[in-house]
Amino acid sequence: MDFKNKVILITGASSGIGKQSAIEFAKKGAKLILVARRKDKLELVAKELEKFHTTILVCQCDVSDKDQVKEMSKTVLEKFNSIDILVNNAGFAIYGTVSSLSIDEIESQMNTNYFGMIYCVKNFLPSMIEKKSGHIVNVASVAASFGLPGIASYCASKFAMLGFSEGLKHELKGTGVGITVVSPIMVRTDFFDHPSFEKMPKFSPTSLSSKTVANAIIKAANSPRLEIITPSIVRGAVWFKHTFPYLINPILGKAFKNISDSKK
Ligand SMILES: NC(=O)c1ccc[n+]([C@@H]2O[C@H](COP(=O)([O-])OP(=O)(O)OC[C@H]3O[C@@H](n4cnc5c(N)ncnc54)[C@H](OP(=O)(O)O)[C@@H]3O)[C@@H](O)[C@H]2O)c1
Repeated sequence: MDFKNKVILITGASSGIGKQSAIEFAKKGAKLILVARRKDKLELVAKELEKFHTTILVCQCDVSDKDQVKEMSKTVLEKFNSIDILVNNAGFAIYGTVSSLSIDEIESQMNTNYFGMIYCVKNFLPSMIEKKSGHIVNVASVAASFGLPGIASYCASKFAMLGFSEGLKHELKGTGVGITVVSPIMVRTDFFDHPSFEKMPKFSPTSLSSKTVANAIIKAANSPRLEIITPSIVRGAVWFKHTFPYLINPILGKAFKNISDSKK
């Protein structure tokens, strides 16, 4: 796909995967709307993108707040009329067992990772449907396919994102608008800087770079597929889990529980 002059909105663009996606889309001549809560960080990203001589709009917005998303979308649609690609990437996790996390901590992950995506879809989808084109890219995780100890509520938010996307994909058939989920394994970003991960190993030797995931997002922006799992070999593990759940779930559960127990 030729992204030149395409209008692309990325949530969570102030760091990690979102920031790298902004860089990769800008290299291709796309116009970018950068959304996140930390305005200073977004402005640094916008500065970094100046060398690509494209239009950049910085929007400070907490996606978990539906009024802020509505206000942000009004500003964006006034300036650009519609967007071509919506990348719902803002997200975070709090590490901890269900017993140790508070209800507020569990809710906050759902509010950003799931409802934040819904608020953006609800505000931008009508204009995409009206012009009969556009694509939504939802950044989930392999945690959308595996419920794991220590991140149960994070997994739930990503399972929800995948289920919603699958349902919406059926609804969008014939409208000209597409939706694709990108599900990476661990990625080397600030994601694990949350204090709850303090005692956990940050990255494994197999962790991906944010550039690898950004490239998957670019591929997803023009893909007929529901889900792109990165790296693609992990698709085999997801198939294996769904086909032989009684075999794979106890092994995975034990392995992840051993990691968390050893860090107590
Ligand atoms: N890193 C991994 O191992 C990994 C693996 C699979 C999937 N993912 C997913 O990839 C996405 C990006 O994560 P990352 O790894 O790039 O982590 P990151 O570097 O921590 O970036 C997270 C981004 O989300 C933004 N954000 C968080 N809460 C927000 C809110 N309420 N409103 C608006 N923006 C918000 C942050 O910006 P502000 O703080 O400025 O708001 C930041 O730009 C997440 O959805 C994550 O679940 C990550």
